Amino acid sequence: MLLLYKKGFKLTSKKMIEINSLTKRFGKITALNQLNLNVKKGELLGLIGPNGAGKTTAIRIISCILHPDQGQVLVGGYDVFKNPLEIKSMIGYLPEEPNLYERFKAYDLLKYFGELYGVPKDILYPRIDELLELVGMSSRAQHKINTFSKGLRQRIGIARALIHDPEIIIFDEPTMGLDPATAITIRDFIGSMKGEKTIILCTHYMDEADSLSDRVAILNQGRILDMGTPNQLKSKIHGDLILKIDLNGPEKFLVDDFNSIKSLKGTENVFLNGKELNISLKSKEDISDIIEHLNSNIMAINTKEPNLEDVFIQKVSNLQEE
Ligand SMILES: Nc1ncnc2c1ncn2[C@@H]1O[C@H](COP(=O)(O)OP(=O)(O)O)[C@@H](O)[C@H]1O
Ligand SMILES: [Mg+2]
Repeated sequence: MLLLYKKGFKLTSKKMIEINSLTKRFGKITALNQLNLNVKKGELLGLIGPNGAGKTTAIRIISCILHPDQGQVLVGGYDVFKNPLEIKSMIGYLPEEPNLYERFKAYDLLKYFGELYGVPKDILYPRIDELLELVGMSSRAQHKINTFSKGLRQRIGIARALIHDPEIIIFDEPTMGLDPATAITIRDFIGSMKGEKTIILCTHYMDEADSLSDRVAILNQGRILDMGTPNQLKSKIHGDLILKIDLNGPEKFLVDDFNSIKSLKGTENVFLNGKELNISLKSKEDISDIIEHLNSNIMAINTKEPNLEDVFIQKVSNLQEE
């Protein structure tokens, strides 16, 4: 028994997680590059970014599964180098692919992990019942894990992550590969814990991050590109509307064309994403000028309100232009 249950934390500030200049390399790959990140107590932080951005590496370091190469990582006031046991007692971690003991029954798996964490029996047994109920698995408590679909495994993975009633919960791509209905159930469940726990939600679904997060950090190539509330990030798009135009021949679209579009009235930000031209606009009235200008180059055209995905695409494309 690890006797990890409820060691508590020793915060000296509101920051539950504090990361300074964190670097992690795998051979020649720099997965995290001088990363700085803070998560406040009770906050839900969405960590978004494309595959390979370094999300999983960052949370594995926070969870004391991986060692950093350089930098400082404090969790609940404890240092990942010095106090990994204290930190593990505070964190519930749902990995991308939860590795569950296949031959265990759902109930026995939770009992096993509860005992491993040293949860006292009088607390553990009612807690298992409560968690199974919470993730909608009470009727399958006596079924073996190897009979479960991906969605059911994810539910048990969540119950396992919560068994020691951790202060901090980290979800790594919790809805990836799930059917839409199960994904909604899991999102609602994460949302229901908001405020009570400190939560990190890694996802590459931008709308998931948008709807659940207090703040969002955009990670790319091991660095934070930007961070703020979803609304703060969206307001940086400049303009109330995004015009998306599929171009006929994007290869014919030259620097001159860019500049002339940029010089039109009302266009705030112009960039090419594949064959799609993205223009942020102040108002719908400015659209006709652009259409006239591009004329035969246009395959399809549509407008939308800016969302987090647009913020992300702009951030990454600005980076490439630099
Ligand atoms: N154990 C590992 N060995 C080698 N390379 C790794 C390992 N884990 C991650 N990487 C690499 O580090 C980078 C960041 O990966 P990861 O943190 O998994 O990104 P994300 O979760 O954002 O998709 C990627 O280039 C990935 O291939
Ligand atoms: Mg990942």
